[in-house]
Amino acid sequence: MTDRELKDLWFDYFKSKGFKKIPGYSIIPESDTGVLFTTAGMHPLVPYLLGKKHPAGDKIIDLQRCLRTKDIDEVGDNTHLTCFEMLGCWTLGECDKKAMIKLSYDFITQKLKLDKKNLAVSVFAGDENAPKDVEAFNAWKECGVDEIYFLPKENNWWSISGGVGPCGPDTEMFLIKTQNKCSKDCSPACDCGKFVEFWNDVFMQYVVKNDGEKPVVLEKPNIDTGMGLERTLMAINGYESVYEIGCLKRALNLVKSKSGEQDEKASRIIVDHVRAATFILGDEKGVVPSNVGQGYILRRLIRRSVNCARKIKLDLSVFDELIDMFADEYGEDYPDLAQKRDFVKEEMAKELQKFSRAIEGGYKEFEKVIAGIERHKIFAQSTGEKVENIISGKAAFRLYDTFGFPLELTKEIAGERGFSVDEKGFEEEFKHHQELSRTAQAGTFKGGLADQGEKTIKYHTACHLLLAGLRKLDSNVSQKGSNLTNERLRFDFNYPRKLEKDEIEFLEKFVNDAIRQDVKVECEEMSLDKAKQSGAVGSFENKYGEKVKVFTIGQISKEICGGPHVSSTGELGKFKIVKEESSSAGVRRIKAILE
Ligand code: ALA
Repeated sequence: MTDRELKDLWFDYFKSKGFKKIPGYSIIPESDTGVLFTTAGMHPLVPYLLGKKHPAGDKIIDLQRCLRTKDIDEVGDNTHLTCFEMLGCWTLGECDKKAMIKLSYDFITQKLKLDKKNLAVSVFAGDENAPKDVEAFNAWKECGVDEIYFLPKENNWWSISGGVGPCGPDTEMFLIKTQNKCSKDCSPACDCGKFVEFWNDVFMQYVVKNDGEKPVVLEKPNIDTGMGLERTLMAINGYESVYEIGCLKRALNLVKSKSGEQDEKASRIIVDHVRAATFILGDEKGVVPSNVGQGYILRRLIRRSVNCARKIKLDLSVFDELIDMFADEYGEDYPDLAQKRDFVKEEMAKELQKFSRAIEGGYKEFEKVIAGIERHKIFAQSTGEKVENIISGKAAFRLYDTFGFPLELTKEIAGERGFSVDEKGFEEEFKHHQELSRTAQAGTFKGGLADQGEKTIKYHTACHLLLAGLRKLDSNVSQKGSNLTNERLRFDFNYPRKLEKDEIEFLEKFVNDAIRQDVKVECEEMSLDKAKQSGAVGSFENKYGEKVKVFTIGQISKEICGGPHVSSTGELGKFKIVKEESSSAGVRRIKAILE
């Protein structure tokens, strides 16, 4: 079965059962949602799972591009991808487990044509917060499924990352790949390879309101079901890996045919990462590589692919061919990707150029560091001192700061040589150089190491001042988007016309006056309601938690925002608007720098 066939099957089937198709959302969620990327189809639907009426009704289906960085180190094995597609199906305000399980069962056996003896399912075993899911168990029994496992919270409870928001017990569906058991306790909870998960029905009967609190019953429960497209194709086609699927296979073959040395894992990483980068850059809200947030993940993905390409002697011109391949393949489902093909290529080329300028120097530096440690070892033989294969935080930071090597890349190339990296030392060095203490609290990606550079943080605070100034010109102005790099800020806002010269001058003066006054930037956590009452501006939609951070700059600005920010406006330097232009209908764009 091809991916197109599976997508069509899904939509035709659920449409025939009264479900309405909605378009997928951007891979980049609304700001302040606590995650950098859309990690599941339900992610953008949270307001509706919490009771808001969906314009398309209460039975909806979609196809969502998702990105998860949690398992990035596993990429290259048979099953893990950073970027994947999820087929979604929801009943909003209703949680009829029996009906959904029957629908799932019929789809699996009649449409996917999986023999029921090769199907296993797991259901929630119960804990102190929620009972054993006997209802789900009985529903599967009625369908005639024999292999049903009760599993605990770690396996059969689903909540959005961070834990706050709608959640509940789930029932997961597995292909039984082999009849052999790894032990007498073998179950879908173990990763021996006997069971391959491909679908998950989540019964969202609960909600966690605040971090650390217990789940409470959700007045209007829902069902959220998500089928991983690549995993499912792998399961039903009997593939050993996801890289046997249509486009991934073609991409992998291309990489292998052009590389000087064969290395399955490195080739797979290139395919996965360039595909993920294409999805990020080619998104309607596409971001470009930077040292902050999504831009930093994108940079890591690209730079790690470059490292793999270097390893297998692959010319980087293949990246362009891969982008074309992905744009051709996915353009039908994600039209923005097809339209932004050239942009994706240009931004990729820019990043490759930026990195390749530094890369040779970086590798030389890396070799010097290793050679230094080896030398130290030889000397130490006479003194009895023990020298370990550890790259110091200082050296790793220099590779990051001067040669653009993300820490993860240094760790990876160090690992290949049997060395590890003093990550703590790196963090300390980072703090020392870039005020990490404040940025860490905003870190939402793996390891908690927020990599916002000092300059980007300044631009972030400047955005708040700029918005405050704009709202002096017109109190209806709100932020429509922003993008920060080390070199400039870009800020989009609603405004009916081009800004006049005197208005630009007013804005520059407004921001520079605020900088001159050296006003403290203060952060306070409060409930969303309290934030609204306090007059803070910000997007009030799509909030998972009710607690938000409010950043106040004296009497000048009060905004709901995830941070990070400078501690005082005096740190910013001189603010200058370098461009004012149209962004889209009714939306203007300002580009500004800090000198
Ligand atoms: N939201 C559920 C998942 O991602 C369906 O597994």
